[in-house]
Amino acid sequence: RQDIAIAPSLLAADFARLGEETAAVCAAGADLLHFDVMDNHYVPNLTVGPDVCAAVKPHCPVPIDVHLMTRPVEGLVAAFAKAGAEWISFHPEAVDHVHRVIGLIHEHGCKAGLALNPATPLAVLDHVLDDLDMVLVMSVNPGFGGQSFIPASLPKIAAIRDRIDTLGKPIRLQVDGGVKPGNVAAVAAAGADTFVAGSAIFGQPDYAAVIADMRARAVQ
Ligand code: DX5
Ligand code: ZN
Repeated sequence: RQDIAIAPSLLAADFARLGEETAAVCAAGADLLHFDVMDNHYVPNLTVGPDVCAAVKPHCPVPIDVHLMTRPVEGLVAAFAKAGAEWISFHPEAVDHVHRVIGLIHEHGCKAGLALNPATPLAVLDHVLDDLDMVLVMSVNPGFGGQSFIPASLPKIAAIRDRIDTLGKPIRLQVDGGVKPGNVAAVAAAGADTFVAGSAIFGQPDYAAVIADMRARAVQ
């Protein structure tokens, strides 16, 4: 198993103080900064774009992990690569050509992730898993922070873990939505290695304490 990574989601940060919040959560032990991009089209909420990513970048000593919940996707890839993203994930339902978009992300020097909604079957991985750097399992329906973890995500994570291990490549398995200290051990036991947490981290006064607690529980 790869190293555990804790990826705080900036969605739950104080949007009036994004630079400070980014620096604080990185100093508190974040391994990745999860950057949720919503377009009020693919999902019913609206957040931030490449300019905000570029503004946050100087405050962020860890890689930026952009989660695109947008349709279309293609035109944003170059913009986020330029804005300092290291990882870019997208949803297969939001594009016409999944394989082409993975290639586009790679052409821009970023690592590519495919995000699976709770009802998205694993079959979307059939012909592209080998090309991916990350699979992102959504354990809530995308669009909002602070929702409850959907338990059916656990067997899904386990099935994807099996597929990644069978393939034998170091593809990260990220879980996003409702992850918190109380369930992170179960999510890790199912096979995840990268844990996104928004409200669980930014909702607490001591970011370092929550991140350390989550990491300890994930490592078991
Ligand atoms: C949901 C986003 C998540 C969200 C997670 O659409 O993709 O990254 O910020 O927030 P919590 O951890 O509060 O569920
Ligand atoms: Zn996300």
